Amino acid sequence: MSTHIEISDKLPENSGDIEQLYRDAFPDEDLVPLVKNLLASGDEVLSLTATKGENLVGHAVFTTCGIAVENETSDHRVALLGPVAVLAALQKQGIGGRLIQNGLERLTADGNTQVFVLGDPNYYSRFGFQEDRLIAPPYPLPEQWRPAWQSKNLQNDMHVQSGILTVPVPWQDASLWS
Ligand SMILES: CC(C)(COP(=O)(O)OP(=O)(O)OC[C@H]1O[C@@H](n2cnc3c(N)ncnc32)[C@H](O)[C@@H]1OP(=O)(O)O)[C@@H](O)C(=O)NCCC(=O)NCCS
Repeated sequence: MSTHIEISDKLPENSGDIEQLYRDAFPDEDLVPLVKNLLASGDEVLSLTATKGENLVGHAVFTTCGIAVENETSDHRVALLGPVAVLAALQKQGIGGRLIQNGLERLTADGNTQVFVLGDPNYYSRFGFQEDRLIAPPYPLPEQWRPAWQSKNLQNDMHVQSGILTVPVPWQDASLWS
């Protein structure tokens, strides 16, 4: 079997592969409903897979969001990164990094100005994410999670200075943010 890892925006033919991947990468958390809802939402989502031969080994989702500034939506195109999953047995081999980097490049080329993530700063800082206290997350976070709310600017000098991230329906679930 090929050991080459391919990154692509094609979904695996068998949707059970995605389910298996998330159950393996997140044994204590059920993210399958969120991922299925995101994948069903079409154009709003950039879904990237990592495959090794025929096998799905990683997946990352970037969701198109908005920023509400004083009850108006800014015309900046922004995205939310997550979830990201790599098979436990293949972690720490750069697969997650390639998925994220590839997504950031595509979003930059598409004119997105900023990407947000709620995740471990030790990991996401590798890609240039920094804590964001200017744009609030869609649901209030416990104070100890605030450093985990981060963003990365994709276009020079083109980011919104204040506001709230607005998210599509699959992300409108407070339990995903608490
Ligand atoms: C997080 C995840 C996607 C990273 O994928 P990966 O292919 O292992 O990542 P990479 O190989 O590109 O990078 C691995 C490096 O990041 C580090 N790393 C991975 N997760 C980390 C975390 N949460 N905090 C800090 N560092 C982390 C590893 O220790 C490794 O460091 P090294 O390069 O010094 O050895 C993967 O570990 C995973 O699926 N984890 C379980 C699910 C999860 O937590 N997803 C992220 C939240 S949505």
